[in-house]
Amino acid sequence: MRKKITIIGAGNVGATTAHWAAAKNLGDVVLLDVVEGVPQGKSLDLWECGPVEGFHFKVTGSNDYRDSANSDVVIIAAGIARKPGMSRDDLLAINVSIVKGCAEEAVKHSPDCMLIVVTNPIDAMVHTAFKATGHPRHKVIGMAGVLDSARYRTFLAEAIGVAPKDVTALVMGIHGDNMLPLVRLANVAGVPVTDLLSAEQIAAIVERTQKGGIEIVNHLKTGSAFYMPGLAAVEMAEAVLTDSKRVLPCAAYLEGEFGIHGYFLGVPVVLGKGGVERILEFELTPEEKTALALSVTAVQKQMEATGL
Ligand code: LAC
Repeated sequence: MRKKITIIGAGNVGATTAHWAAAKNLGDVVLLDVVEGVPQGKSLDLWECGPVEGFHFKVTGSNDYRDSANSDVVIIAAGIARKPGMSRDDLLAINVSIVKGCAEEAVKHSPDCMLIVVTNPIDAMVHTAFKATGHPRHKVIGMAGVLDSARYRTFLAEAIGVAPKDVTALVMGIHGDNMLPLVRLANVAGVPVTDLLSAEQIAAIVERTQKGGIEIVNHLKTGSAFYMPGLAAVEMAEAVLTDSKRVLPCAAYLEGEFGIHGYFLGVPVVLGKGGVERILEFELTPEEKTALALSVTAVQKQMEATGL
């Protein structure tokens, strides 16, 4: 059975997500946006890469949610992005109404879809999509942990001088300044990074990871990152579409896991055809618990600001 992935929002993140999804031959891709012409033009350009790159599937652009019908995965990347000087929270007021509308339409046309939210501030936007649709909790997730962990792994690999792929590291909590890059669990093919780098080097990498988004915004000046955010969403979609049971850090709705109730936050989840099939809970140290509590407070504030 051919799979279908709809990406809502044809800006930098949405279009790049479509690019990665097409390149990985995950299924037919529909790129949807309210702006007439943009999704059509970008998707046609992308589809025409097929003969050279070997994409098997169709890439279609549309302004009509009916073209998204019966998608297996819907990725919401619509909304405004940050400019220098803005925090992710500054996007909240405008993005909450955009995400609410997109999520409602997405679920109306694809009632069984896996909903992946990429729009910032992610933890509050995925909660908005969940509340607006009443979609089951295991079918709604937010992207961020894959992105933040990839940044953490990249910086660790560079400092140690090893292939980034061999660095395993987990970032939990909110996609914001209070995110929690776990130090004691980070390793290179099983070797703890604490044996390979000094405490000062690791502290600097943790801070750079926490500020990884704004580092790119400050370079670009006109928007935020899109290559890795798009790839992160596609890695999550791929795990669902292929039922691979990959363990990826994602913003999942917590009902007591890690002592958190009623909020979405980044935790390690097992992704398969059922969506979030399990949350891998483990014992945190007292310091990690304190750090994660900062994420909870931050996401509570965001949710209060949504008025939902
Ligand atoms: C970033 C944006 C996606 O971290 O929040 O780059």
